[in-house]
Amino acid sequence: MALILVAAAVAAVLAAVYSLLGRIASYRRLAHIPGPRWAAWTDLWLVRGQLSGQLNFTLQAVNEKYGNLARIGRNWVVCGDPEELRRIWGVRSNYKRAYWYRGLRVDPYRDSTFSTLDDAVHDELRAKLLPGYGGKDVDGLHEIIDTQVAGFIKLLESKYLAEEPSKKSNASYRTVDLARKVQFFTLDVISALAFGNAFGYLEADADKFGYIRTTESTVPILMSTAIMPWIVNLLQSPYLRPFMPNVRGMVGIGTVMNLAKEAVDARYGDQAIVKRDILGSFVAHGLARDDAEGEAVVQIIAGSDTSATAIRSTLLYIITNPHVYVRLQREIDEGVRAGRISSPITDTEARNFPYLQAVIREGLRMWPPATGLLPKVSKTDDVICGHRIPAGTSVAWAPWTVMRNKEIFGDDCALFRPERWMDISAEHFRAMDQTVMLDFGGGSRYECLGKNIAMIELNKVYVELLRRFDIVLVDPAHPWKSFNAAFFIQSDMNVRITRREEAVKA
Ligand code: HEM
Ligand SMILES: *[C@@H]1O[C@H](CO)[C@@H](O)[C@H](O)[C@H]1NC(C)=O
Ligand SMILES: *[C@@H]1O[C@H](CO)[C@@H](O)[C@H](O)[C@H]1NC(C)=O
Repeated sequence: MALILVAAAVAAVLAAVYSLLGRIASYRRLAHIPGPRWAAWTDLWLVRGQLSGQLNFTLQAVNEKYGNLARIGRNWVVCGDPEELRRIWGVRSNYKRAYWYRGLRVDPYRDSTFSTLDDAVHDELRAKLLPGYGGKDVDGLHEIIDTQVAGFIKLLESKYLAEEPSKKSNASYRTVDLARKVQFFTLDVISALAFGNAFGYLEADADKFGYIRTTESTVPILMSTAIMPWIVNLLQSPYLRPFMPNVRGMVGIGTVMNLAKEAVDARYGDQAIVKRDILGSFVAHGLARDDAEGEAVVQIIAGSDTSATAIRSTLLYIITNPHVYVRLQREIDEGVRAGRISSPITDTEARNFPYLQAVIREGLRMWPPATGLLPKVSKTDDVICGHRIPAGTSVAWAPWTVMRNKEIFGDDCALFRPERWMDISAEHFRAMDQTVMLDFGGGSRYECLGKNIAMIELNKVYVELLRRFDIVLVDPAHPWKSFNAAFFIQSDMNVRITRREEAVKA
């Protein structure tokens, strides 16, 4: 008996020593890189940051204090230097995706383009997806988006317009949470594109099948577990599968997966329907049936919150900056009067309005919509910002640091000032533009597949809103609730919307 106790005690001590030695070794590996003290010893520092809803801010503060390359975990560094990031994410880079991406599996036992770690598999998948996303194989891409823009306007017009206060009716106090309605819009755009039928959020004016509620409660946790490879392994272990909840049975995300399955089933098999839409393009380029299902779901997840955040935050900056608001509305009105803006505005027309383009870019700069760590690991030792980085280190990015780089954007980079994009040299524009476009990832391997679609949405939505409506915040001191969980959870952007008296009709 006593012998067993002694043996157990010795084993426990050995295990503790072993784990301590492991910690010391991992501490020393990156000891030459400055950073918050605890982050060097435990990944809980980073997990806590991710759970705080303020990681955007935390990482920016870390870069400000310790420099553009800092240590944020046992095997993690963060880089805030746009040039280095472009190299790391670039076409000929020696880096690959870190294990973090594996944690982004929607189906715990299957990869999608977003979660696969294997470069060859990823390249092959992207090649099959690119023509559909790029719109080349798709009939009516713009018209589908136009239909949803019209649905968005209709929802606001039919239910949420406040009347002029002079009319003394109660309706003058009508307000609306624009954050939610914008999300309904982007969800309908993506579902219409991905499945051929919009989910119908705008029509229902409600969080159909609880998708928004469930993603908002689960994704922050998913993003935190992705930081720790052993938890990812545990959650995705085939041995534990019998004890895990079935994703397909879950409210919200499960419903979306089942809808994806239905849509995909119709496109394969003997009586397959052939359509020239995004899914049809995937099929035509040889995407396997199971992959098609997963990719349809990825589209919904990757494409709704991101574009919603871009739209909300840019609108917030517009309506809280009177000079921008007035100048943009004037550009739109003049365009309408001159017959240069159709109803709704086309993507091509929108590109010819310089102030609108400046506002779109400045909005993407002020509030990068996708703030996941997006870590890449080098296959060989590397030097980043003058620091030696051993092979295998996870290199994350700090979007807020990148987008507030004084050398690139100027000393007033904290301000929303679309004018910084106007009347400047081609090189200066290019330097700013390629930095802001890091919002969408980079290179040929890591660039957002939905960028083209997102830009079409942005090119239309501000014009269609501001040509018709005036928008003011109900409570400027509390413009919205915003939580940073790799994507943003935003709500309570309460505004009062009125029809513009002087609005020019097309
Ligand atoms: C303003 C809006 C958007 C932003 C800022 C954004 C940003 C990003 C970023 C940063 C990545 C990750 C790159 C990486 O590290 O691998 C990404 C990937 C992706 N995005 Fe977007 N995105 C937006 C809208 C969309 C939309 C509308 C769609 C769908 C139509 C979409 C579909 C995807 C897909 C499928 C991937 C995975 C690409 C891959 O596996 O290589 N995104 N996006
Ligand atoms: C007026 O509007 C407010 C806010 O929408 C509502 O709570 C209230 O019940 C309304 N009052 C009347 C008399 O309709
Ligand atoms: C980071 O995101 C949070 C939550 O959305 C927000 O409150 C905060 O202002 C952001 N940080 C900065 C520096 O803008």
